[in-house]
Amino acid sequence: MNMRYPDPHKMKASPGGSAPHRRVSFIDVHCHCLPGLDDGPRSCRETVALCRSLTRDGIGAVVATPHQLGRFGRSAGPDVIRHAVEQVNGALAQEGIDLCIAPGAEVRLDERVSTLLAEDAILTLADRHRHLLLELPEDAFIDIEPLIVELAGLDVDLILAHPERNAPLMAHGQALWRWLNYGVTLQLTAGSLLGYLGRAAAQNAWWLLTKGWAAVIATDAHDPGPAGPCMTAAFAMIQSRLGVSVANLVCSGNPARVLSMERIRSPLLQQRQEVR
Ligand SMILES: [Fe+2]
Repeated sequence: MNMRYPDPHKMKASPGGSAPHRRVSFIDVHCHCLPGLDDGPRSCRETVALCRSLTRDGIGAVVATPHQLGRFGRSAGPDVIRHAVEQVNGALAQEGIDLCIAPGAEVRLDERVSTLLAEDAILTLADRHRHLLLELPEDAFIDIEPLIVELAGLDVDLILAHPERNAPLMAHGQALWRWLNYGVTLQLTAGSLLGYLGRAAAQNAWWLLTKGWAAVIATDAHDPGPAGPCMTAAFAMIQSRLGVSVANLVCSGNPARVLSMERIRSPLLQQRQEVR
């Protein structure tokens, strides 16, 4: 693991404060902020603009997750991503932007995932070999149970990117429930909760969150535009509908667990403990 870039593990997430003087600091574990590697920023200038908007949204640390596999093939290999992260962290320091970036990837489902992981051809979140952010195809349902079991044997847990935006997946609730019981984590896009990504995505996102099935919120930001970083607004809406403990868990506690290589905590488990 290359650790010349700043270690975001040292950053503490501390949302939940409503006092205006208190600086909120979220950790964003899904963000397309590296220049020229995927459909995110095309230049370093655009990357800096996106990073400024992330800090304005109260985000203090980001796992950069350019697309790997699928339509992006191997265009963004691990060493390319690690090098880009170093470059961007240097540029942010020069610009005086208080944001720490770690390498990662959003990996498209592929039958070679386990093999490519063993070959260091795809990246885990924060390059820590503990959590893999997986994107499923949106045109068909595929049962990933064999992959979940394979990766569990490597002590790698799956985080599924934005299931609320995947209609075939949402039509297979029983499979989702089975995967959750294997320890799979569902990550919602903050903008989905706010209705920025359509009515179906919003309904699905709130359904998953209210049931206690979704455990992580992230921006999935590609640019600073209207559907860009909105963690602060999503946190406030979750706090108002489901309470501060759920908001803290999914926006702060669990994203921090990605950096500390801990198992993501299920909101269902928390609910059961609070009932006791
Ligand atoms: Fe993404």
